[in-house]
Amino acid sequence: MGNPVEIKKNIYSVGVKDWNVRDFHGYTTSRGSTYNAYLIVDEKIALVDTVKNRFSSRLLENIAKIVDPAKIDYLISNHTEPDHSSSTPHVMAAAPGATIIATAAGKSGLEKYYGGSDWKINVVKTGDTLNIGSRTLSFVATPMAHWPDSMVTYSPSDKLLFSMDIFGQHFASSGCFDDEVPYDELMREAKKYYANIIMHLGKVVKKTLPAVEQLDIDMAAPAHGLILRKHIPDFVASYKDWADCKPTPKVLVIYDTMWMSTEQMAKAILEGATRPGVDAKLIKLSVNDLTEIMTEVLDAGALAVGSPTLNNNILPTCAAFCAYLRGLKPTNKIGAAFGSHGWAGGGAKQVDEELEKTGIARVREPLTCVYKPDAATLEECRKLGAELADKVEQYK
Ligand code: FEO
Repeated sequence: MGNPVEIKKNIYSVGVKDWNVRDFHGYTTSRGSTYNAYLIVDEKIALVDTVKNRFSSRLLENIAKIVDPAKIDYLISNHTEPDHSSSTPHVMAAAPGATIIATAAGKSGLEKYYGGSDWKINVVKTGDTLNIGSRTLSFVATPMAHWPDSMVTYSPSDKLLFSMDIFGQHFASSGCFDDEVPYDELMREAKKYYANIIMHLGKVVKKTLPAVEQLDIDMAAPAHGLILRKHIPDFVASYKDWADCKPTPKVLVIYDTMWMSTEQMAKAILEGATRPGVDAKLIKLSVNDLTEIMTEVLDAGALAVGSPTLNNNILPTCAAFCAYLRGLKPTNKIGAAFGSHGWAGGGAKQVDEELEKTGIARVREPLTCVYKPDAATLEECRKLGAELADKVEQYK
């Protein structure tokens, strides 16, 4: 189904589907994405968010199928990140009389990104309201979920929350609502989105969720992906688990290798961790996607991370993984570093330091070997795998 779609009486989804986007500042969007915008037609006309600027004409065309864009009275900017705000200049050119509604940080962000010194911007904070006729919209600031400027907009009479990035998924589909796609695919994309965009904001999510939960809603319209009308409770429950990176009995052995020595160690760790009831996975960095790996990390109980030593350093693939992992700040994980080296060594120690900076509790010193693991080293690897599995079994 294309846009516009009437999602509630006189409220339309007018955003765009970006079927072909595959890279979203490093996030592999294997199912594309959508930039959702919503038009509320009342005595006053309000547009909630815009779209990525290269789709601005499509946004205005979608709006024009319902009302003349010049008649927009309010542009509610829930979030300044350019995937939602970069068509603001186009909308304001089409509706020069419109007033922008944003938080103070949102106003500042819009002015810095787009100039707009002649735009009228009304600053709102949590609890402020806007009457547009039969509806009174209210605003809840959600700073750092996702940026300092972020807020959500609530229409009590529609039981509808415009939830911005919260509950989003990078998921283009012909459907518009969560019950129009397979449930497992929906939740997998929601989990991937959380792991790669929101995981480092767990504390903020825990503060924000109660504000969302106290609202009487039967629909949540996020800024990306499917609109929720059936699975809101599942999303709220999942967000509660994900906010704690709630560990499960899962051991990830994540590594890269030069001459198969670190790979032999990785396979021995996997062997040690493999048992009924424990999900043990071998993940080679050079053939796996970081976005998918981080989705696995979100609910893992343990990570064994390995790199050989290359030029007194770790392999570039492992460095990229460690940097990405550290930024996303997973919590409630144990782990260990391992790897082979030729002479000077140091790779596994660097991995260990990265894990420490990430906040992962290591169960032992880095496990290393020179050139090639011998039988004793492989046995030590199996013992490490077994120890990690022992410790994550409590999460069954
Ligand atoms: Fe989809 Fe934080 O922007």
